[in-house]
Amino acid sequence: MSANDLTHNRFADLPDSPFPRLNELIEGLSPGKSPIVMSLGEPQHPFPAFVSETIATHAKEFGKYPPIAGTPDFRAAVAAWLGRRYGLGPDVIGSKRPLDPDLQILPVNGTREALFNVAFVATPLAKAGRRPAILMPNPFYQCYAAAALAAGAEPVYVAATRETGFLPDFAGLPEELLARTAMIYFCSPANPQGAVASLDYLKELIRLARRHGILLAIDECYAEIYDREPPSGALQAALELSNPDGEVFDNIVVFHSLSKRSSLPGLRSGFCAGGRAFMIRFRNFRNVGAPQVPLPIMAASAAAWSEETHATENRERYRRKIDMAERILGNRFGFYRPAGGFFLWLDVGDGEKAARELWARGGVKVLPGKYLSREDSLGRVSNPGAAYIRVALVESEAATEEALTRMAEVL
Ligand SMILES: Cc1ncc(COP(=O)(O)O)c(C=O)c1O
Repeated sequence: MSANDLTHNRFADLPDSPFPRLNELIEGLSPGKSPIVMSLGEPQHPFPAFVSETIATHAKEFGKYPPIAGTPDFRAAVAAWLGRRYGLGPDVIGSKRPLDPDLQILPVNGTREALFNVAFVATPLAKAGRRPAILMPNPFYQCYAAAALAAGAEPVYVAATRETGFLPDFAGLPEELLARTAMIYFCSPANPQGAVASLDYLKELIRLARRHGILLAIDECYAEIYDREPPSGALQAALELSNPDGEVFDNIVVFHSLSKRSSLPGLRSGFCAGGRAFMIRFRNFRNVGAPQVPLPIMAASAAAWSEETHATENRERYRRKIDMAERILGNRFGFYRPAGGFFLWLDVGDGEKAARELWARGGVKVLPGKYLSREDSLGRVSNPGAAYIRVALVESEAATEEALTRMAEVL
């Protein structure tokens, strides 16, 4: 067998990246007006000036290999932010407390690599005597499926539709599936629907994970972009549960990013935090197999996690664009204000057709929801994203207003 055959076997079901698919879809069509890109969730807001200054001040540290566990300053800044953001007081964070920053917080080179790498550490060779499963919402961030396949697990796509409040119903899955589930990816606020899990939903999910020995990989990278209420977090939910068989944060690892909070997608900086036993295993794995965060980037990241004004301004900018969308789109295309994140998830009947029309007639590039989702693994619905388009509100307010106005005209 050639090396190619081996690769092909494992990744035969790997999802194609949505963006080349979109380019193929609109190939040969000229944009009807000057192009505005709303397909890519890449924040375009300005990032704070202190980031460049801090990198410059620390530039000589590019001459050193960075420690995988980060610097004490970075971990302290993250711990303080977690404390403020989720009300985790001094009785929670500190050495000999349920969350020891030195053991339970790790810097990551953007959350994508960490969401990918976590699958290797979470997936045993077999569970309940069978091939392990990794569950994920559907639609989903494409990295989750790639990670499950790379780790040798079966990715299981669990529909998150309007009928389920755009959140997956993991508890309703068959017992035999839950018994062989190694990990669940869950995203709140959700990309693309903007749904936010309540504390009760998170508590139920943690109970389910503990009953079945599952690791929860909770993607909270949109946690700071919200409409009215700050979304609850999984660490916060865990504090309200007792865990007689273990520690407070067992079965949980959360992922946070500066890409959205601070409009720094190119910095490649985030962190993960969670239960002690898992975080120690993850650190050991990362120490030999994962990318580190360069020291000057870590210094700038510590500064960003310590500063709230820019994050508040950033959130308000997104809110103004949601207001704009509400005004321009009104109640058409199933518009609703997303509780979190910066995407509109619009029901246009046929997402691919709408994406072609918007490009050809309005010059607006949006992503068909179909490219973010799959056939539901349990056969309960067909592709749950097919009727939708995802619109990223990442451009300037002027460009966003222009794009939304053209969308209302074309659709
Ligand atoms: C749901 C979700 N998770 C994770 C990421 C990765 O973010 P980053 O690697 O920039 O931290 C993204 C980026 O778009 C995302 O949408």
